[in-house]
Amino acid sequence: MQTVLITGANRGIGLEMTKQLVYGGNRVFATCRLPEQAEALNQLANENKELVHVVQLDVINDMSVHAAAEAVAAQTNHLDLIINNAGVNFRDSFESFNSDEFLLVLNANGVGAMRVVVEFVDLLRQGSAPKIVNISSQLGSMTAQKPNFGSYAYNASKAVMNMITRHLSFDLASDGITTISMHPGWVQTDMGGSSAAVTPPDSAAGILNVAANLTAADNGKFYIYNGEIHPW
Ligand SMILES: NC(=O)c1ccc[n+]([C@@H]2O[C@H](COP(=O)([O-])OP(=O)(O)OC[C@H]3O[C@@H](n4cnc5c(N)ncnc54)[C@H](OP(=O)(O)O)[C@@H]3O)[C@@H](O)[C@H]2O)c1
Repeated sequence: MQTVLITGANRGIGLEMTKQLVYGGNRVFATCRLPEQAEALNQLANENKELVHVVQLDVINDMSVHAAAEAVAAQTNHLDLIINNAGVNFRDSFESFNSDEFLLVLNANGVGAMRVVVEFVDLLRQGSAPKIVNISSQLGSMTAQKPNFGSYAYNASKAVMNMITRHLSFDLASDGITTISMHPGWVQTDMGGSSAAVTPPDSAAGILNVAANLTAADNGKFYIYNGEIHPW
């Protein structure tokens, strides 16, 4: 049984990963910023009281992340896997640049993952073959960039996350922690839209399969949910 922390677990890929982990008998600290509105997640938690713990965590709020870490530490002495899944996307362009929106996206998608790792790393250090999976995007790849491929802020935020992955892969290697970035596919969620190519169950299953098979040799890599390597 793995003990897992997921951010943004109330809908989309995060909810689907939570379900699959729980149905596989794993224990999940399923975090979200508004637990009282997380109907599907609360239902899953009610049906699986021993395995699902819903915890308030807003990745852009230092105090919220710190309080969440204290709440989780009161219930477990370790984590085996952290999945930084929470993310936002505002469609922007050169003409519509708005610095407040830009900074919010960088904060949520980039700094948010760093906040979570810093607050939860002591629990992760006590885990078995501990891992961090940062849910990034192909849009954060420098080499994959082309005209009209995503948005300034979103793409930049995922590039920030990718650089954080690289730094963590060096800093936490001596703790035995393997850190990767992951492109989850273009997925049928509120963010991906209904025309997307991949279903949430297929994306979640792929991500969890890659995560389960990671070894120290994968530290610092950028994966696609289907197990292939994504170019940086
Ligand atoms: N869908 C795609 O095609 C696609 C492609 C590449 C990468 N991704 C990445 O995959 C991850 C999951 O995306 P998704 O498709 O499942 O999107 P989604 O359905 O829009 O879900 C986003 C999740 O992030 C949460 N979130 C947003 N801001 C937050 C904050 N400040 N604190 C905590 N949680 C926050 C949301 O919570 P609320 O309900 O409270 O807003 C929600 O649970 C994201 O990182 C996204 O960038 C998605």
